[in-house]
Amino acid sequence: MNDRIAVRVGAATADTAPDLWGLFIEDLNDALDGGLNAELIRNGDFEFDPSERNDFHHLTGWATEGPVQVRTGSPLHPNNRHYASLIGPAAIANSGWYGISVTKGKRLRLSLFARVTEQTRLAVTLGNGLASTDLDVEPGGWHYLEADLAPTATGCGELRIAVPAGADADLDAVTLRPLADDGSPLTFRPDLLQALKDLAPSFIRFPGGCLAHGYGLGNIYHWKDTIGPRWRRAQTRNIWAYHQSRQIGYGEYFELCEALGATAIPIVAAGVCCQNSPGGQHAIPESQMKDYIQDVLDLIEFANGGPETRWGAKRAEHGHPEPYGLRYLGLGNEDEITDAFRNRYARIEDAVREAHPEITVIGTSGPCTTGPDFEAGWQYARERGVAMVDEHGYQNPRWLHQNLDRYAAYDPDGPKVYLGEYAGCSSTVRSALAEAAYMIGLERNPDVVRLASYAPLLARVGHSQWTPDLIYFTADEVRLTASYYVQRAFGTERGERVRAVELEGVVPWTRPVAGTGEAHVHSPRATVAFSDVVFDGRPVPDYATVPGIDGAVLAAIGPDAADIEFTAVRRDGSDGFSLRLGPDDPSSSVKFNFCMGGNRNTVVFRRDDGIDNWEATRPWPEWGDGVPVRVRVRLDGPRLRVWVDGELHHDLELDTRPEHRVAAGALSRTAADGGTEYVVRLVNAEDTEKPVRVDLDDAPGPVAADIELLAGAGPDEGALFEASPIRPVTEKAKGENGIDLILPPWSFASAIVRPSA
Ligand code: AHR
Repeated sequence: MNDRIAVRVGAATADTAPDLWGLFIEDLNDALDGGLNAELIRNGDFEFDPSERNDFHHLTGWATEGPVQVRTGSPLHPNNRHYASLIGPAAIANSGWYGISVTKGKRLRLSLFARVTEQTRLAVTLGNGLASTDLDVEPGGWHYLEADLAPTATGCGELRIAVPAGADADLDAVTLRPLADDGSPLTFRPDLLQALKDLAPSFIRFPGGCLAHGYGLGNIYHWKDTIGPRWRRAQTRNIWAYHQSRQIGYGEYFELCEALGATAIPIVAAGVCCQNSPGGQHAIPESQMKDYIQDVLDLIEFANGGPETRWGAKRAEHGHPEPYGLRYLGLGNEDEITDAFRNRYARIEDAVREAHPEITVIGTSGPCTTGPDFEAGWQYARERGVAMVDEHGYQNPRWLHQNLDRYAAYDPDGPKVYLGEYAGCSSTVRSALAEAAYMIGLERNPDVVRLASYAPLLARVGHSQWTPDLIYFTADEVRLTASYYVQRAFGTERGERVRAVELEGVVPWTRPVAGTGEAHVHSPRATVAFSDVVFDGRPVPDYATVPGIDGAVLAAIGPDAADIEFTAVRRDGSDGFSLRLGPDDPSSSVKFNFCMGGNRNTVVFRRDDGIDNWEATRPWPEWGDGVPVRVRVRLDGPRLRVWVDGELHHDLELDTRPEHRVAAGALSRTAADGGTEYVVRLVNAEDTEKPVRVDLDDAPGPVAADIELLAGAGPDEGALFEASPIRPVTEKAKGENGIDLILPPWSFASAIVRPSA
């Protein structure tokens, strides 16, 4: 039997952060178009363009029959220049996002614009006899047409629009949306909307992420391009290399926030585009800054101005005359902290502070939890007195379990933290539990951490650019991950006061940086020759990688120690090579990548439990064929050093602090009867079950508890694009002054404990 763990819930230490748990939505992974956007037609505006992705064209998503051309003369709107021009007999058929699924009796609203030279009847059919209608079009310019389709069966098919022989028609802005119970076309896909609602988010951050600051200056997200009638919105390339219809634009984002009972956190670019754009970070030219700043102020008016104001009136046109009560505005996303950034950021923030002191402006601190932009971003935020800073932390479970106390070390009088993006880097139970433990750490530091949102939120199965994600979906299925259930438990059960928690009986968990294994080189895309190889002062045989072959072992190494040196020359192929120190299994190893993935830098990773964790990156000029490079990598306990061509290139002290695999947190709140009840969170990310005694200092006498328990699968169960292998179950418990429970191996429990008569 394992020793009992004692959890002692003591005095209230602080008020909780009231908005702590929220969502971050970005059109990535088909999250919006093809996802949350209820629209069933893909490329209904014929605006997909080869400049966005080379397999795109203006008829992407459409099949054609007979003479069909894409034209631009006298378009519907300058923002919607392309349309399909058919000379009958001809037809176009749209297959939506990989098939349009409909349900018998669930009506749909079809709408389109058509222009004909003579009165024409368009024949519209859905699937093979699922539904049909005719649309009569009068000559004389573009006409808006709509009709409701009532599927007579459940099925999947295309929407086909046919022009009869002898007629011609220009077609544009074709849309097909399911209808709500009140007969209005849906904006959001209901099952995904419900999944978001069930998380009980306090806020929604949107529209990005990288999407907000854009791929190049021309790709910065300008909110004004995204309001008004959908067919007039400026569509563009998505930074994630697909097309953004902007059908979910700023009006809809605010509508979504309201539907979920969440406050909005719009993110605007801090006057610079993404530093990963061609040519690096660019700043909005001086001549455009005045207008850009005005756009940001206008956004606040769009959200909060009365309907009599210019931009408040636009909101009213979106069907919402009442102000939304915007409280937060994010300025920038993971930007490189350069002088150009500081200059633009300061001017935008100053203007907002002056005109809207009621708005909390959230700054940015680079993409990682450490590193030059993190340091510079925070230093700048402190100097400027920025109210809150957006930090991002995609980290593996080892890191999360080591960093539960990260925010206890922050200055409570400095800028507050919005952890805008974080995840445990896999869809396994292991990652979900590490996130739960880390979230306990976020929750117990409310004087520092004010907001937090997992990322990314949504991904369509088979169409993603980023994994893991919280919610996977197909056309008709929503797959909730173990991480989702963790988020839901925190989001739905909040407290008002943070309680002190003492934990006894927990044995700290440590592991080597790299276990016993080997020095192994690998080069997936190149032939790289390794010569003059010296391991621990002894020569070892030369080796040349073969692309596509899984590399070779240069030497065997013990735990946490290796000193290997070689000359590498790329003979042909592309990119560079990777050197692993440690075992060829999921446990623990370190990896040095030289010019891999784009041939522009060197990177150090740690791998724990099969999940890579980034440690450091430094730029390196492109590596050409035939150019020798002398590399020495030395692992000396936690210290990892890498020399390239004789210069110390990386010098890292890797984190060997214990992992808090067993964690506990507690909140209290006022119960319906006016008494005090407790929310107790418990994580057991170990292989053995743990008997736990929870004592409530302030609740003498009998108590009753409702416990939601997520348990029953091994740590490595759960996979990308799959639903969680486990679902929460609820249990009840009773006790005196607290409760006793058994925490199964690899489990998370959220218990509501209240005094009982
Ligand atoms: O969440 C996916 C991306 O990760 C975000 O767009 C960006 O901010 C981060 O790099």
